[in-house]
Amino acid sequence: MNDPNAPIYFGGKYHMFYQHHPYGAYWANMHWGHAVSEDMIHWKHLPIALAPTPGGPDKDGVFTGCAVIDNGIPTVIYTGVRPEVVMVASSDDEMIRWTKYSGNPVISRPPGGAKVVGFRDPCVWKENDGWYMIVGTGIKGESGGALLFRSPDLHTWRYLDPLCTGKVRPKDEPGLVAQSDMWECPDFFPLFGKHALIVSTKAKSPYFIGKYSGHKFIPETEGHTDFGAAYAAKTMPDATGRRIYWAWIPERRAKDAFIAAGWAGVMSLPRLLTLRPDNTLGIEPLPELKTLRGARSEFRNIELRPGKDQPIQGTPGDTIEIVAEFELNNAQEVGLKLRAAPDGSEQTVAGYDRGEEQLFTETTQAVQKGHLTLGPQETLRLHIFLDGSVMEIFANGRACVSERMYPTQPDSLGISVYARGGTARLKSIEIWPVRPISTNRLTSS
Ligand code: FRU
Repeated sequence: MNDPNAPIYFGGKYHMFYQHHPYGAYWANMHWGHAVSEDMIHWKHLPIALAPTPGGPDKDGVFTGCAVIDNGIPTVIYTGVRPEVVMVASSDDEMIRWTKYSGNPVISRPPGGAKVVGFRDPCVWKENDGWYMIVGTGIKGESGGALLFRSPDLHTWRYLDPLCTGKVRPKDEPGLVAQSDMWECPDFFPLFGKHALIVSTKAKSPYFIGKYSGHKFIPETEGHTDFGAAYAAKTMPDATGRRIYWAWIPERRAKDAFIAAGWAGVMSLPRLLTLRPDNTLGIEPLPELKTLRGARSEFRNIELRPGKDQPIQGTPGDTIEIVAEFELNNAQEVGLKLRAAPDGSEQTVAGYDRGEEQLFTETTQAVQKGHLTLGPQETLRLHIFLDGSVMEIFANGRACVSERMYPTQPDSLGISVYARGGTARLKSIEIWPVRPISTNRLTSS
């Protein structure tokens, strides 16, 4: 799989679609896979929802899109390719049998002619005067952008203007995405009185938060939804109106290795988005993930001295959840060594560098890092999920880094905590084994 597509709550169930090649564990031949859940935690695979129609505008792939409910009818708006066009399909209440609209494509070419380098991944919402849609694009020589359209019926679309482009900078911000030439998978939604735009570019899914008025979006703040391996993020409101985030966590192993494994790419855990008082994004694992916890181990008050890692005993395997809280005291860096070999020959580090103000992960392959400022008395709270090769790390409710790790030894399961450049205190560490979530799991690891 790659991108999550069209996550939606309907008829008491959560539906998730995703970019999927049914006949090989590598990117090609895009279909929409489909899974369903009652709680966003336990999922059941359903038959493929959308396949390319031979001779149709999506013959070369059913690319990314979104879902809405149109007069009670589940409807998806997605991308057909070569050339990139906007397509519509609708279904029965279970979202099993899909019918493509006979008038497809509903948009056959991007506005702006040759200046537009890409035109894909529609995101649709409803306002009082009709349907609105943004489509990801790149404006040659300028920046990525999201083009805004309006429709009375999801079929006839009129182009308005760019909703936002990478040229519009939040005031006094360093700028994360301005230079990129294409925004993929734009996702636009209200968030506690503001609006948020997440885009996917340069292998990351950064966000803007700002004001939406007069069909323009003016970003006020900017940041990363994830510093690491998370792409093509999509959000949805859940049954109670909370804003839930999903992303594709791609492979870090070589293509030969994932083809041999028979699968490639995973969905992130569901993440809860909120607006923080400083207008930045709050991001945390969905609290209901706690229902998967097995028996808890807890250790408290461990003094950390440089050069002396503290092993945490009794690690319950490679599918675990950890919550660790550190007082930094005068340390320069604190963190955990995870999936460590007994002889120390391999390990994965998740830590915080106070001098650089950076949350990071370090594997034998790569370092992922991003900015996190802690208040003077603030403790570092790392909330970590390890699931086979997947690691998702949340820090202090406002930063996140995902990464893949591929330890080579079966007994590389050790956990230790450390401090560098001074002493620190581990106030507490809690560890739980995590139960599996799928009732019809295809393969493990
Ligand atoms: C993002 C993306 C989208 C496209 C889809 C194709 O990962 O490239 O822009 O619609 O994947 O699979």
